[in-house]
Amino acid sequence: MAKETTYRVPEHVAIIMDGNGRWAKKRFLPRNAGHVQGSRVAEQICEDAWNLGIKYLTIYAFSTENWVRPEDEVKALMNLLRKYMKDSIERSSKNNMRVRVIGDISRLDEDLQESIQTLEAVSAENTGLCFQVAINYGGRDEIVRAARQLAMDAADGRIKPEEITEERFYTYFDTGGIPYPDLMIRTSGECRTSNFLPWQLAYSEFYFTDVLWPDFNKKELQKAIDYYNNRERRFGGV
Ligand code: FPP
Repeated sequence: MAKETTYRVPEHVAIIMDGNGRWAKKRFLPRNAGHVQGSRVAEQICEDAWNLGIKYLTIYAFSTENWVRPEDEVKALMNLLRKYMKDSIERSSKNNMRVRVIGDISRLDEDLQESIQTLEAVSAENTGLCFQVAINYGGRDEIVRAARQLAMDAADGRIKPEEITEERFYTYFDTGGIPYPDLMIRTSGECRTSNFLPWQLAYSEFYFTDVLWPDFNKKELQKAIDYYNNRERRFGGV
């Protein structure tokens, strides 16, 4: 008799959107054209993810290391994010998405910080996809910021050292309260996690694909979920 299996959709998917530059180069286009197409794909994939049953989606849009890119590329990426945040303030009431930004936003231009805060506030009660955008995000930086906050609370007597557990520490993270990703996808053939959610990905399944991010679509997302279904997650058990 065939073994009964149920198809599992990961509750939380994290994505490293890599390959925008190579996608543009192949078409003799400036790198920025790859980022523009990449941001369109990011928007579409939110809709696809929700339709496939995914509840949380977290994407790596700009890392703490990305500031060393040429000035005009950094500027273009910031302008894309600026436009995304502004447009989403209205759009979030239609698509019912809850948008949160993770990372240290204090280094971003003030108007961008303001758009982020407005978008987070207006979308906070939405009940559709929970979409996290990582901007000026570095996993080690997030852990250090969380540890610093925890140390301040301990110094002020709000928490005792013996009360510090993994669960309690996690509440200090940018993603505190959000379940850990079940599946991490990285496009463009690189097999690294590049400082993306190092704490949160401890037990996640990893899916690496050669597809460049601007070519990623619902079919490719479905393939990643199929791969996830063929994995047996044991969380350290047997
Ligand atoms: C990696 O490709 C991609 C990035 C560093 C930026 C990702 C950002 C976006 C897709 C746009 C912003 C998103 C939203 C939601 C508006 P790469 O440039 O490193 O590509 P390469 O490795 O081929 O050079």
